[in-house]
Amino acid sequence: MKRIAFHNRDTETKEIMDILDAEPSLITFVYGPINSGKTTTISHLLKELPEDYAPFYVNLRGRFITDYEDFLNVLFEIDEEGEIGNVTEYVKSALKDLGAVSGIPIPINLFERIFEKKDKSKDMFKYIEQFFVELSKTRTPILIIDELQVIRDLKIDGLLIYKLFNFFIRLTKELHLAHVFAISSDSLFIEDVHSEAMLEGRCRYLMVDDFDCKTTMDFLNKYGFSNEEKELTWDYCGGKPVCLVELANAKINKKDVESEAKKFLKIITSQILSIFDGIALGKVEYSEKALIDEFKNFEKKELVQYDRANKEKIFLVERNVLFIDPTQRTIKPQSRLNLLAIREVVRNA
Ligand SMILES: Nc1ncnc2c1ncn2[C@@H]1O[C@H](COP(=O)(O)OP(=O)(O)OP(=O)(O)O)[C@@H](O)[C@H]1O
Ligand SMILES: [Mg+2]
Repeated sequence: MKRIAFHNRDTETKEIMDILDAEPSLITFVYGPINSGKTTTISHLLKELPEDYAPFYVNLRGRFITDYEDFLNVLFEIDEEGEIGNVTEYVKSALKDLGAVSGIPIPINLFERIFEKKDKSKDMFKYIEQFFVELSKTRTPILIIDELQVIRDLKIDGLLIYKLFNFFIRLTKELHLAHVFAISSDSLFIEDVHSEAMLEGRCRYLMVDDFDCKTTMDFLNKYGFSNEEKELTWDYCGGKPVCLVELANAKINKKDVESEAKKFLKIITSQILSIFDGIALGKVEYSEKALIDEFKNFEKKELVQYDRANKEKIFLVERNVLFIDPTQRTIKPQSRLNLLAIREVVRNA
């Protein structure tokens, strides 16, 4: 099996390194269209980080989190052998083999103690803070939570997400103790974050978008695409990494790039048309006309400014057809394939 190598994310990497170079002061929300390479960019950067950083990466995707127990289990890496005398001693010993970037190490006896407590969040945050205070004497802690929106509705004695935001503010703006990155592929979650008064002036936004044209061409050059194939790939897939990887694999396997790209477009067009099937079957409450009107915004343009979000726009964002950037009040199809599919649907409407 040939692996497609990680491809240039110099601009985003530099932006993140600049953040890491400075004292932690704001929470960083990393967002962007689906499959734009957010997770890959961060994971790659973490592997290359100098020793003086200690990153903890937690991915909530696909984790079934319904209560504190589930959340604590993903947040922490339970150390079955560890015994807590005091946190200072424990951090020293845990640091020795702090290899892979995953949850925050915690000795089992303390983990169990947190479980017994009524207000688990208080103890959990207290432990992480103490752990980071000790750790920061030698290294800069970085906490990264991917797919944070998974727990947006998790309610245990109030919404957990608010407690987390408060804790993140404490780690960054108040204590300047750790860098905090929250990644999300859900632009409606970023919209909530953006309009959350509690986070105003306490966070920054970092967009990881699909590759630009030059980066895409450099990528395709690596896999021997002809000029014609490069043009066609850009026309169908734009700079969506996941599609480029698929087409590079097709090329490696001597398949026809054009027919593969056309297959992608068929799939996306069919997904959009299935919304209209849903209307016909009474499963979708919007009118076909109202949705087509939204699509018409993209007949000539690839990105539009919105003044007020309406129900139809939000619905199409929920269906991952459109992507909104609440920080700029812009809206665009999730991918070049979505744009082409939208145009085809409008033509045939
Ligand atoms: N810089 C890159 N170089 C090579 N391949 C990449 C790169 N970035 C992303 N990819 C490819 O694209 C796929 C999707 O990337 P990734 O999962 O990082 O996107 P994402 O933005 O985190 O997606 P989601 O919106 O689902 O969270 C990866 O599995 C990888 O194959
Ligand atoms: Mg991701």
